[in-house]
Amino acid sequence: MKKNKVKMVVDQAFQIAEVDNRIFGSFIEHLGRAVYDGIYCPAHETANELGFRTDVMEMVKELNVPIIRYPGGNFVSNFFWEDSVGPVNERPKRLDLAWKSLEENKVGLNEFTAWAKDVNSEVMMAVNLGTRGLADACNLLEYCNHPGGTKYSDLRRKHGYEKPHNIKTWCLGNEMDGPWQIGHKTMEEYGRLAAETAKAMKIIDPSIQLVSCGSSALNMPTFPKWESTTLEETYDYVDFVSLHQYYGNRSGDSQDYLADSDDMEEFIKTVIATCDYVKAKKRGKKNINLSFDEWNVWFHSNTADDESMENHPWQVAPSLLEDQYTFEDALLVGLMLITLLKHADRVKMACLAQLVNVIAPIMTDANGGGAWKQTIFYPFMHASLYGRGIALLPVISTPKVATSTHEEITAVEAVAVYNPEKEEVTIFAVNRDLGNDMELTADIRSFEGYELAEHIVLEHEDLKAKNSFGRPEVTPKHVNQSRIEEGNVISMLHKASWNVIRLKKKTI
Ligand code: AHR
Repeated sequence: MKKNKVKMVVDQAFQIAEVDNRIFGSFIEHLGRAVYDGIYCPAHETANELGFRTDVMEMVKELNVPIIRYPGGNFVSNFFWEDSVGPVNERPKRLDLAWKSLEENKVGLNEFTAWAKDVNSEVMMAVNLGTRGLADACNLLEYCNHPGGTKYSDLRRKHGYEKPHNIKTWCLGNEMDGPWQIGHKTMEEYGRLAAETAKAMKIIDPSIQLVSCGSSALNMPTFPKWESTTLEETYDYVDFVSLHQYYGNRSGDSQDYLADSDDMEEFIKTVIATCDYVKAKKRGKKNINLSFDEWNVWFHSNTADDESMENHPWQVAPSLLEDQYTFEDALLVGLMLITLLKHADRVKMACLAQLVNVIAPIMTDANGGGAWKQTIFYPFMHASLYGRGIALLPVISTPKVATSTHEEITAVEAVAVYNPEKEEVTIFAVNRDLGNDMELTADIRSFEGYELAEHIVLEHEDLKAKNSFGRPEVTPKHVNQSRIEEGNVISMLHKASWNVIRLKKKTI
C-alpha cells in the first residue's frame, strides 16, 4: 500500500443489502428541554396551533427522519401513559424518577403522534416494563391501534382521535439490563416478562413489530449473555433486539477517540452472532434483526447534569444532557453512520439519540430563543438524504494509523450507497488520520456513464470547534477535490474530514 493512497472498489454487483430507511431514525424523550422548550413552546413566535415550534419542525424535516422513538429512554420505565392523554388541564403532574424532574404532561402521546406526522415521521413507541407490565402495555396498544368499540379505543376517540394511530413499532421497555433503570430486571425476569407481553401485544395487533431490550452498552457486564438468555424467551414473538451505545473523548486523545466506531462494529457483529446462535438453538427460520435505537456522542454534559439532578431536583424541563458538540464529535458520528450502513443487512433500525436539545443535532436557545444546528447535524443529514438505496460492500485498502488503545486502525473508513431509482451513487468517507491527507481512488467501472455531481466536505482546523446560535463555525462546503479518470473517481480526503462524494448518471 502506497503512502497516503487509498483504493476502493465500488461495484453494483457487491451488494450488502437494501438500506432500511428506518436506520435514519431518531429519538425524543421526555427529558430536559427536548419536549418542553424544544419541540413544544406555545409562547414562541413560530408556534403552531398545537404549541409546536415550526422552526424546529423545519429543521427536523431537513434531517428527513423516518421514525422517532418516544417517550423514553429511562423516562418510560415509570411512565403512566394515561396521565398524558385527555384534556390537558386535567392531566396530573408526576415525578419523573429517571431524571429527577417534574413532568406536567402538557404534551402526551396524542400530541406527539400528531407532531410526528407533521414532520413526516412514524412513532416508535416504548412501553413501560419497569414499574408496569403486560396489562398496561396491552391497554396502551389498544388505545393507539384498535379502531374502536372497546374501553381504550373508545377513550382515544373520546379524546378527539377518531382514527387509530396505527403505531407499527414498539419497544418492550428500555435498558432493562441497567441497574440505573427504574424497575431494573435480571435477564431471566426480563426474558419472561418481555415474551409474555410480546405474545399478548401481537394478539391485539399482529401487524406490529417488536423490539426486545438488548444491552445498554458493549461494556455491560451481562453482555452478551443478556441477549442470548432473553432472546431464547422472546425469539418467537419479537422482530428486533436493541443496542445502545454512546461515546465521548474523555481522555482527550482524539486519534483514539475516532477509533471508537470500531468498537461499535464489534458490538454489532457480536449481537448478530448471538441472534444467530439463538436462531440455531431454536431451530428457527427467522432472523432477529438489530435496532440500534440509541447511538451518539454523550459526555460533555455529564458533570453538570449530575450536579443539577443532585442539587436542583424536580424542576420542569431543566437543562439536562445539553452536550455542545465539537467538530471531532461530528467525525465520530459520521464514522458511526458508515458503520451502520456497512451492516445494512441486519441493522434495520437505528435512532440517533436524541433529536432536540438533549444530546441533539438541533438546539434551541433557552426561554424560546432561536434554533440552531450542531456540528453533528450535518453528517446525519447527508447520510439520511443520500444514504438511501443499496449499501455496497466496501472493498478498501487503506494505510493504517496507530492509536493508544485500539492499536492500528484504518486511516479511511468508507461505504457507498447505490440508488437505482435516482441513478445515483454516494460514497461516504471519513479520513480519520489526524496527520495526513489521503488520496482515494475508487473504481467505479460498473457505473458506466456516471459523472461527478458534487463533493461535500465537513472539516475544520480546530477539532474542538463548535456551533452556537448565530455562529455556525462548522458547516459543510462544496469542494473541487474530486475528478473522474478512466473509470475511477479520484478524491482528495483532507486529514480529519467527512466527505460525501456524489455521482449521478449522465443525462443524454
Ligand atoms: O438518551 C439518554 C438516555 O440514555 C436514555 O434515557 C437511556 O435509555 C440511555 O441510558
